[in-house]
Amino acid sequence: MNTLNLKLKPLTIKNIDEIVALDKICFGGLWSWETYQRELDSPNCELLGIFSCGNSEVLLAMGCFWLILEEAHITILAVNPQHQRQGLGQALLYSLLKAANDLGLERATLEVRISNLGAISLYKKFGFKTAGRRSKYYQDNGEDALILWLNGIHKPEFQANLTQWYGMICDRTLP
Ligand SMILES: CC(C)(COP(=O)(O)OP(=O)(O)OC[C@H]1O[C@@H](n2cnc3c(N)ncnc32)[C@H](O)[C@@H]1OP(=O)(O)O)[C@@H](O)C(=O)NCCC(=O)NCCS
Repeated sequence: MNTLNLKLKPLTIKNIDEIVALDKICFGGLWSWETYQRELDSPNCELLGIFSCGNSEVLLAMGCFWLILEEAHITILAVNPQHQRQGLGQALLYSLLKAANDLGLERATLEVRISNLGAISLYKKFGFKTAGRRSKYYQDNGEDALILWLNGIHKPEFQANLTQWYGMICDRTLP
């Protein structure tokens, strides 16, 4: 049972210090303050956060996708390590896919390290399929990336998936 009081909302420039700090904890500093500022300013970028709401709001998880033509390119999915395995990652992925569906986008894609079995398992749970592999994609250790795609997110039948996933995430996290 999750005892945190959680809130999902779009990230804004007011959250930027927390965003950069979460990036550092989760990715070791993938994007800089300036990069996030650009992302937050961009009309083609959707950035969502999950906050715990006590006396003050604390950013626990964040996700981002770029709108490229009819595609959602998921660029960031990150949950504070102290709050992983509590359903926040799936709540966030659901919310990104719902936002993409609301925007009328047709498919979602992302790259993930081949060693990141937890993330791969999460994406597969939401129906992502492996479409290919980018050799030595990650510069820090030369690791390969898997390219995953989820097609048909604009189709009426995808609504049934969203409804089912909403039930799943409500059971664990968001009210
Ligand atoms: C990947 C990440 C976002 C998952 O977030 P999370 O909140 O821990 O995931 P959830 O608790 O919502 O898990 C949902 C599902 O994902 C899978 N999963 C998540 N973490 C897993 C792990 N460590 N091992 C195996 N499966 C895992 C499971 O299928 C899980 O479903 P289950 O709880 O029914 O078993 C989180 O581990 C993270 O931020 N990692 C660091 C950053 C990163 O690697 N991001 C992805 C870049 S592509």
